[in-house]
Amino acid sequence: MKKRKVLLDCDPGHDDAIAIMLAGKNELIDLIGITVVSGNQTLEKTGRNALNLCQYLDIDVPVCLGADNPIIKDVEICEAIHGESGLDGFTFPKLTKTYDERRGVDFIVDTLLNAEEPIDVVTTGPMTNLALALRVEPRIKKNIRQVTLMGGSYQFGNVTPAAEFNILVDPEAAHIVFNSGLRINMIGLDVTHMVKVLPSVVKRMEAIHNKASKLFTKLMKVYNENQYKVFELEGGPLHDPVTIAYLLDEDLLEMKHVNCEIDLSKGSSYGRTNCDIFNYLGKPKNTYVAVDIDVEKFWDIVEDAIKKYD
Ligand code: BDR
Ligand code: CA
Repeated sequence: MKKRKVLLDCDPGHDDAIAIMLAGKNELIDLIGITVVSGNQTLEKTGRNALNLCQYLDIDVPVCLGADNPIIKDVEICEAIHGESGLDGFTFPKLTKTYDERRGVDFIVDTLLNAEEPIDVVTTGPMTNLALALRVEPRIKKNIRQVTLMGGSYQFGNVTPAAEFNILVDPEAAHIVFNSGLRINMIGLDVTHMVKVLPSVVKRMEAIHNKASKLFTKLMKVYNENQYKVFELEGGPLHDPVTIAYLLDEDLLEMKHVNCEIDLSKGSSYGRTNCDIFNYLGKPKNTYVAVDIDVEKFWDIVEDAIKKYD
């Protein structure tokens, strides 16, 4: 089967790291580049984490630094979950891989404008880079097959009662992307909270005994400890890899086509993804929102992905 070209925009981040792992070595995915944004940590740290992950996992793709700040808001990081480095829990070998010299937004624009086939764009952090690229060069839309994002929720938030981290950090960017006319697949907390890294999951992945399973196990230990401290969750939700897993098997998720508006009102629901699940308002449907996930299938995909490494 022909590989699908994927551009990944991320902010690693423990769960972003596993998304990179899923996309990095797969016969169905041709990962053509990684752009990085500030989110879980500052851009300097998320960028370094992306380089370290690619080097350690032997994923030979360009890594470009994108925006170091949301479009309007100030930088907001998530150190309580991802730690001081943004990827606490694993010590990488000495870093020799270097950044591609293009800025993230330029890389997205150039790659998409010159693409010979439609590209899947996946975002697992705040959507600043993609939003800026769409504003700078709207013609890139013709070469975007779809945008699959981890972010939002039609039910509950995880930073405020209403809003999820990736959207709340840069709601204006999300607004631009959701209103771009592109096909939007929104994978939010509604389904990512159904895939928690319980001890049984850690044991299963640890048993693979390769470099990827070692990385998974060590990262998830700290991730789970922090998720417990902050949210009292037994097992952290493995948010970001659900995006890549969905590209690998579209039967993984049940999607509902809805109208979704980002709340930009700056009140208590700022950054909420208002999904009109019951079509009360009859507004044009602009988003496919994930409403259910095949949990067993998801862990099978993660296990298969880890097994592909040495
Ligand atoms: C999202 O926020 C980040 O902390 C995670 O990496 C994930 O992308 C979950 O709300
Ligand atoms: Ca992320």
